[in-house]
Amino acid sequence: MKERRAARAALRKICACVAILAFVSCAKNAGAQTGQADTANAPYRNAALPIAERVEDLLARMTVKEKVAQMAQAVIYRASPADVTAHALGSILSGGGDHPASGISAKDWLEHTNAYQKAALQTRLGIPILYGIDAVHGSAKTGGATVFPHNVGLGAANDAGLVERIGRITAVETAAGGVHWNFAPCIAVSRDERWGRAYESFSESPDIVSVLGAAFVRGHEEGALSGRATIASTAKHYFADGGAEWGTSPHGIDRGDSTLPEAELRRIHLAPYAAVMKENPATVMISFSSISGVKMHENARWIDVLREELGFTGLIVSDWAGHAELVGPNKYAKAINAGIDMIMIPEDFTGFIAEVSKNVTDGIVSEARVDEAVTRILTLKFELGLFEKPLADDSLLPLVGSDEHMAVAREAVRKSLVLLENKNRALPLPAEGTIALVGTKAKDLGALSGGWTIYWGGYSEYETLHPTLEWNSRRAASSGFRVKGKDILGAFTERLGADRIAYSDDGRGIRGAKRAVVVIGEAPYTEFTGDSDNLALSKADVERVRNAHAEGVPVVAVIVSGRPLIIDSILPYCEAIVAAWLPGSMAGPGIADVLFGDYPFTGKLSFTWPASMEQIPINAGDGKKGLYPFGYGL
Ligand code: GLC
Repeated sequence: MKERRAARAALRKICACVAILAFVSCAKNAGAQTGQADTANAPYRNAALPIAERVEDLLARMTVKEKVAQMAQAVIYRASPADVTAHALGSILSGGGDHPASGISAKDWLEHTNAYQKAALQTRLGIPILYGIDAVHGSAKTGGATVFPHNVGLGAANDAGLVERIGRITAVETAAGGVHWNFAPCIAVSRDERWGRAYESFSESPDIVSVLGAAFVRGHEEGALSGRATIASTAKHYFADGGAEWGTSPHGIDRGDSTLPEAELRRIHLAPYAAVMKENPATVMISFSSISGVKMHENARWIDVLREELGFTGLIVSDWAGHAELVGPNKYAKAINAGIDMIMIPEDFTGFIAEVSKNVTDGIVSEARVDEAVTRILTLKFELGLFEKPLADDSLLPLVGSDEHMAVAREAVRKSLVLLENKNRALPLPAEGTIALVGTKAKDLGALSGGWTIYWGGYSEYETLHPTLEWNSRRAASSGFRVKGKDILGAFTERLGADRIAYSDDGRGIRGAKRAVVVIGEAPYTEFTGDSDNLALSKADVERVRNAHAEGVPVVAVIVSGRPLIIDSILPYCEAIVAAWLPGSMAGPGIADVLFGDYPFTGKLSFTWPASMEQIPINAGDGKKGLYPFGYGL
């Protein structure tokens, strides 16, 4: 009896174990059904098949909700990796001010983006995400990366080969952090210096913008997106973002309205898109601005021109909550029906998925339109090779901020400098005697790099930024995140030795120096925080120049700015004047190379330099005589 009871007990235990095992395996299967479908042998997973077939197979497996979720781009401070898994989101972005919680090294970015990608692979169909970022002058949100001169300086250098190399390096240093998509190049043709984004534009000339924009995409994508270090480019912001008129926007001009006649719109603002299309940019971003009152975010007519006339077949993405600036209900539907394939929501992704799924049910957005958009999104993901290699490896990390890359940045700084005045051979700087450096910008790599640098509006060690950017400054002060590179004071001191350098904040106390290099200009800004109808030098800057002059020292003014400024106030006190724009990491070495005469000045103005605010807008061919004409440079 006892034995039988023991046997029964043992049998019961075995049955229980078998039952548990059975439950677990079927639960796993069941979980697999709702968690991860068994798609190992599905055509879309077969890299030997044409991408179009893989897309068709995958699309056919997707629910409407999953398709709509692929059109969603959410920002990291609202969407966690768990949200990516729960909602099968198509794309994640870091906005101008967002970073991984762990820090901003390329390794931090790599771990951060891979965490999001691993989460995407847990979704039912395992569709990888596209991770997007603004790396508009190098991978400037990555600590230790090479920060290049902003486009305004590259336009003055006007060297397509150089810009192509910059595109290549930017792709490498951005891919190193596991990012798949760069919201660059900006191919705006800025026609009014009062625009806070003037520095993101290569030139007022559509020809220069066309050549350099195409060169950047060529370098950035190397013609084949599947390369180890190629990432998707973005031609932005489509279009005529640089053609808005002052007073047509609550900010001043940013996101404003252009009433140019169609022929001018095409000649000036559409031409760069036609040129860049030859390099097959992976994506285009829509502008916040409007054309004769019709917001680009619902401008089906002009988006159709991009598709039908310019032949763009890639992904069109909206700008940051650009739909929200549309009037009336169904803003998402309006943007999608106008031709936008992915919505940079970027916060309320659950609301987006619910609203647009309902729009499809109600017939406000057709499933055919959704399928068209998702086809483009999936095609890009297959082209980038994300299904075969969803996770980035650390092989590119050693290249971030390398000496080789920094040398290219130094070359770019040299070629971007424009010599506006040089009386009595003030330049090149003498090989002996004391050189005075005047003004905090001489030692402020943040101010020397401008906006879109680590933070949305950049940062400064010494300047007070626009109130909207105070948050940037507080973060910069507490985080200690800084641009890798060398400022002007550092480079000059390294070159001459500390005993030959005299630094002064205000230009006083430098009597006896051979020259005074007075560094003046603008504090960092971005987008509408840079809109201004007063581009005169600050009182402090004028004082710096006048004080240095009063000390009897010949003044070499170096202007650090995102655009031409009104400088009549300093003309009588300067022997030489140099436009240095926003030079970035190698500001110091590049400027020293040219000011000491190791290299000649070769930069030429890619923007007409106004003599007064009243002249603005002023562009080549409009009959106005500025202070220095387009193409000028000694
Ligand atoms: C910004 C800018 C755009 C940028 C995007 C993501 O508002 O308009 O250039 O790519 O948002 O940061």
